[in-house]
Amino acid sequence: MTAQILDGKAIAADVREQVRIQVEQRVRSGQRPPGLVVILVGENPASQVYVRNKQAACEKVGFHSELKRLPASTRQEELLALIDELNAREDVDGILVQLPLPEQIDENLVTERISPTKDVDGFHPYNIGRLALRMPLLRPCTPKGVMTMLDRTGMDLAGRDAIVIGQSNIVGRPMFLELLAARCTPTVCHSRTRDLPDKVRRADIVVAAVGVPKFVQGDWIKPGAVVIDVGINRLEDGSLCGDVDYEAVKEVAAWITPVPGGVGPMTVATLLENTLQAAELHARN
Ligand code: GUN
Repeated sequence: MTAQILDGKAIAADVREQVRIQVEQRVRSGQRPPGLVVILVGENPASQVYVRNKQAACEKVGFHSELKRLPASTRQEELLALIDELNAREDVDGILVQLPLPEQIDENLVTERISPTKDVDGFHPYNIGRLALRMPLLRPCTPKGVMTMLDRTGMDLAGRDAIVIGQSNIVGRPMFLELLAARCTPTVCHSRTRDLPDKVRRADIVVAAVGVPKFVQGDWIKPGAVVIDVGINRLEDGSLCGDVDYEAVKEVAAWITPVPGGVGPMTVATLLENTLQAAELHARN
């Protein structure tokens, strides 16, 4: 069996089109377009590419978007003061501070400073807490985008065994909460997990977010499983590859996401959904 491809590029294009139509309707009815401010501290090359993609996507759906570039030497107080200013601005619905931040800045403090209704990354403890309690507000983009992809398989998620490899605050932990809310039986694995291949072999859904190229092997996969690859790793020859050994796993799985063109575009499209949602929250208040 060769797996069907879960085409993140195509699904993301659908999501973006839905957002664009809703923005058009908003503006036609006299409301202002949703506004997103992205803050980039320092010159991390990968972050610069991600931020550029996010900005381009915002412009295409008709959002107001701003990029605030700060030098790598920025003091924590300066960044917090900028967030305070943006929290108070009525034309700003979303504030996104691109991670990672330089080491003099405490990421947790920054995340908590963003107003929860402007936290379009969904990283604030308030938003993570709401997701944990099955009363989600703004949900982290990558795990939410993965749920959109799983929905496209048409699979009934209730009762499925799911495994998440990686326990980061950005992906692994909220992914666990999303899968639990969808009535899967999720397990989170990490570097101290024992017998990882055996655990993966029991899973109907595998989400790989470890940051190690081709980590997940073909003979770890249960035949017919859905395999979602969150990894984006650059190899020595300059090419990109995921955390899954794609060539081997596609022979066993029922569905697989490619890298690039899988989860990556979904994260950006979901950020647009979240920013529109934030604008709707602000319109109601
Ligand atoms: N760095 C890597 N992924 C992300 C993300 O989804 N949001 C932010 N803010 N920074 C990131």
